[in-house]
Amino acid sequence: MATGRETASGSALQRASAQIVAVGAYVPPRVMTNDELAQIVDTSDEWIYSHTGIKARHVAADDVAASDLAVEAARRALDEARINPADVDLVLLATSTPDYPGLPATASIVQDHLGAERAGAMDLVAACSGFVYGLATASAFVDSGQAATVLVVGAEVYSTIINWADRNTCVLFGDGAGAAVVRRGTGGGIRDSVLHSVGSGAASLCRPAGGSREPCNVATDPDRTKLQMDGRQVYGFAVQAIIDTVEELLRRNGLSIADLDHVVAHQANVRIIDAACRRAGYPVEKFFKNIREYANTSAASIPIALSEMQTRGLLRPGHLVVTVGFGSGLAYGGNLIEWT
Ligand code: ACO
Repeated sequence: MATGRETASGSALQRASAQIVAVGAYVPPRVMTNDELAQIVDTSDEWIYSHTGIKARHVAADDVAASDLAVEAARRALDEARINPADVDLVLLATSTPDYPGLPATASIVQDHLGAERAGAMDLVAACSGFVYGLATASAFVDSGQAATVLVVGAEVYSTIINWADRNTCVLFGDGAGAAVVRRGTGGGIRDSVLHSVGSGAASLCRPAGGSREPCNVATDPDRTKLQMDGRQVYGFAVQAIIDTVEELLRRNGLSIADLDHVVAHQANVRIIDAACRRAGYPVEKFFKNIREYANTSAASIPIALSEMQTRGLLRPGHLVVTVGFGSGLAYGGNLIEWT
């Protein structure tokens, strides 16, 4: 699926008008190092770092839910944009770790806590691709005139759905949130988006129990409510998803990799990014990486990266940035953004 509006020549470059006017991020203060993890499962700092590029992750306190992280990140983005929460038309919250199982939407909790009294609110479940799907959705709402100001938030508390006894998965994830304010503007902005799904791979990364397929009951094995992953299958999918997404966005917009200033891929594993660069011949220095400090924060990883890049002065007006999300679903996709 392609959501950009193409011209006769196939380019969407002159049409889109939804802009990211501010970004913000929040991670819980508690840092858990690899060495600390090695005290609870059979692993080591050497194994985790050499296989993933991860050194540490932030972990939320027991009484902190996804909405709490989301509200902090959203407030930072709104403050940065100098926008009153009452002026937000729509809150889109990308999360696979909602405050409640299914209802109410965590977005509604965030809308209330922010004081975004005029805003509609909905959750968006596309796992680690959630923020990319959120930007595409926000862009469509703004471009169509349905909304003037959309808050897109990725917020995750994976520490609550990880099996802390499974070294294959528990070393990979962290908690955090990132947010972007999307508004109508002229020049630059979210130029194009592509969204895809390979649902045949759904079982390779899922929580088997707790939904309508396998409801929880007193006899449910608790491990079946936790995240399970076929790491090798997801790895192969992820490397190809990065390449396919970048290539499709470049082709649709008459660009080459040399035209891009930054690629911000979902931070799942540095080896996934490095393998995609090797296979496609991309310069790896164009790919931003901060997984070392945060691990995989799923839907939050791209907005956390954008916020860090903004703070460090790496994003300048006119920069062409491609985001790439990939993960459970198996959903993937990306956005082409001219930074404003
Ligand atoms: N510490 C020590 N040893 C470990 C650990 C660990 N934490 N985890 C696995 N191992 C062992 C395995 O048991 C195995 O041992 P064995 O050979 O005796 O059986 C050995 O290390 C090699 O295991 P592999 O699975 O082959 O390791 P691999 O090099 O493939 O790395 C990894 C595993 C990091 C999970 C990799 O496959 C990967 O990154 N996959 C993609 C994961 C991913 O990105 N998931 C998130 C997607 S986003 C979303 O939507 C949530």
